[in-house]
Amino acid sequence: MSEGADKDLVQAARDAREHAYAPYSGFQVGSALRARSGRIFTGCNVENSSYGLTICSERVALSKAVSEGESEFDAIVVCAPGAPAPCGACRQVLYEFSPELVVFLVDPQKDAVGRVSLKQLLPSAFDGSSLSSTC
Ligand code: THU
Repeated sequence: MSEGADKDLVQAARDAREHAYAPYSGFQVGSALRARSGRIFTGCNVENSSYGLTICSERVALSKAVSEGESEFDAIVVCAPGAPAPCGACRQVLYEFSPELVVFLVDPQKDAVGRVSLKQLLPSAFDGSSLSSTC
């Protein structure tokens, strides 16, 4: 599977955003994560009245994918107003599985697709190898 953001992946993120449960922030986010197998998993943000329990769209998509047996990913599209990059928590969680992930950013109202690597978003990442150092 190539690292491009094909139209299907972008559309899947746009469609997933329609399911966002965001009554508190009003900020709807959709994601579409592509496994190396080619399968696509979508997610939306799911908020809660206990705000800290909110789950971002990216982690919803990732959890769905991992729970269905996927653990290697090549691309994610995130769709939200202003085409923001994933939050820090999502960067870390995505990095756990695919440091080489390519992140595409789209605004629901625009055609343009931004592109950035996860390593650009999370330089000097903490990962499993960091745990091998002990004192
Ligand atoms: N949100 C995401 O879904 N992904 C991110 O990477 C950043 C933020 C959601 C969480 C919350 O429901 C809303 O956007 C406002 O923070």
